[in-house]
Amino acid sequence: MAKLMHDDIPEALRQSLYDVPERPRPFRFRWWMLAAISALLIIVLGSLWRILVPGAPPVTSEAPPPAVQIQERVVTAEDLLGHYPYEAAASGELMPITADGSVTLRTAAATAYQRMEADARAAGITLVPLSGFRSVEDQEYLFFRVREQRNQEVSTRAEVSAPPGYSEHHTGYALDIGDGSQPETDLSERFEQTLAYAWLEQNAARYSFELSFPRDNAQKIAYEPWHWRFVGDSHSLETFYRARQSL
Ligand code: DAL
Ligand code: ZN
Repeated sequence: MAKLMHDDIPEALRQSLYDVPERPRPFRFRWWMLAAISALLIIVLGSLWRILVPGAPPVTSEAPPPAVQIQERVVTAEDLLGHYPYEAAASGELMPITADGSVTLRTAAATAYQRMEADARAAGITLVPLSGFRSVEDQEYLFFRVREQRNQEVSTRAEVSAPPGYSEHHTGYALDIGDGSQPETDLSERFEQTLAYAWLEQNAARYSFELSFPRDNAQKIAYEPWHWRFVGDSHSLETFYRARQSL
């Protein structure tokens, strides 16, 4: 029998004749296998712990909620609609600053105001004290009764008037000032256009008076160009600034 040559085998059969069956490879340990098994165990045991142990953090894939930003309050916890509580001055601590005695201030503030008024007069300016010390009862009328007459909400009223117990006028250090030559601007924003206001703006600090409620003040009280307070001794300074330390 003639020997079969390679080329004599049909092409379709050649492959199977030459194929050598592959031997199964022996198992070989790899380090990555240990790492993968450990990771799997950690995930499974971790989930079981969260499910079985009460109080464990819940299983969730959700990101924690973003921190809520709490806006800082500009007024202290003691405020009422933006106003601070003030103790009323005792009658023995007050002295009149008008000839008829209708307007009074604490002695230190009264003497400073009288010097200021005299110096303004010398410069041709007539400062008129409209309102100084006010009792809590006076303020009750101004806040509640006037609010009723004007049909105002409490918050609206508080923008222009302090609730009783919360007025700077209780301290005996604050007063409302008008311009004697323009009484129509009394207790009005138009007071800022008077010569009296211009003079006060330039000179009031010499007598330790300052504007309590400038425009856009932190207490959110309406602008009051006529309302000035004395801050010329320790007691008056503490009275007005102690409550605002957290501002
Ligand atoms: N007029 C201001 C708000 C006060 O009484 O304190
Ligand atoms: Zn006032």
